[in-house]
Amino acid sequence: MGLMTPIATEAIASPNIALIKYWGNRDHELRLPANDSLSMTLGGLETRVRMALDPALDADRMVADSRPITGEPLERVSRFLQIVRQLSGRREYASIETWSNFPQGVGIASSAAAFAALAVAADAAYGLGLDRKSLSRLARRGSGSAARSVFGGFVRLRSGQEDAAAFAEPILGAGHWGLVDLIAIVSTSPKEVGSSKGHRLAETSPLQKARVEDTPRRFDLCMHALLARDFQRLATIVQQDSDLMHAVMMTSTPPLHYWEPATLAIMKTVLAWQAQGLQVAYTVDAGPNVHCLCPAAHAEEIQARLQAIPGVQTILCCHPGQEARLLIRPGAG
Ligand code: DP6
Repeated sequence: MGLMTPIATEAIASPNIALIKYWGNRDHELRLPANDSLSMTLGGLETRVRMALDPALDADRMVADSRPITGEPLERVSRFLQIVRQLSGRREYASIETWSNFPQGVGIASSAAAFAALAVAADAAYGLGLDRKSLSRLARRGSGSAARSVFGGFVRLRSGQEDAAAFAEPILGAGHWGLVDLIAIVSTSPKEVGSSKGHRLAETSPLQKARVEDTPRRFDLCMHALLARDFQRLATIVQQDSDLMHAVMMTSTPPLHYWEPATLAIMKTVLAWQAQGLQVAYTVDAGPNVHCLCPAAHAEEIQARLQAIPGVQTILCCHPGQEARLLIRPGAG
């Protein structure tokens, strides 16, 4: 820190769950996703990012949930801030502190919330003044799914052939449908292979081409189910989309197996509940935890049932959430 304490900027963002997932990048450096995706922003889960530009620093530094961040995770943040510095013409390094109210690095899109909040905070701190679409493009450079967390409610991420064309946009507001995501946590150990590495393996699977080519069909089905608030149709397509992505992961070289035995146990139980007429659907990201979607009216019953499955440690309950936003502007306070 310099002699005077620099004035901090603070932003907040929520993670999101992809109903139609992206896996694989057409350009890894620019993080141009291989296919369009569609998500729900997860209200209640939040990452706050506070940052101060400090002319006295000779490198960026970061503390996450009171732990200093070093090595590759810090370099990833620094590479991201380098883009912001280039855009702004400013050179100061930043001192960053983050707080999250949910477990990190276990497949709950922690990088999505962090980079969406970081994009909003850095935009303000470095005085870029980007519009929401450009903010989404910027967030994408930090983490592909972060592009979606810039917006609230239900969000589409356009894969785009080039940087300017790959951004997210809100498609339905948070109030459109009271869906609930009950995240059954079966493990909080950090995953061995993060999604950035996973995306690079996608093209080694002989199934990836078919998955990507079929995306418009799944996207349309999901969109129609959302518009009609048709849970049955939503469940069918969301589960197929998740299974397709995991089929690609499992058939990559080397293979990626994100599921734990409890993951599969929950998925099979959800299918059995569906057969009994319950409105619930599973979807799994790059981790072992299972996102169980249901209409809000059934959430209490499903949460109690999930809690009784062996291996379920805790359940996080999320409603459609809000966009990433600034809490403290630079120069305020
Ligand atoms: C399985 O956005 O986590 O959650 O750019 O490397 O941070 P990075 O990838 P990330 O990839 C998301 C993968 C997914 C599916 C999805 O959210 O669409």
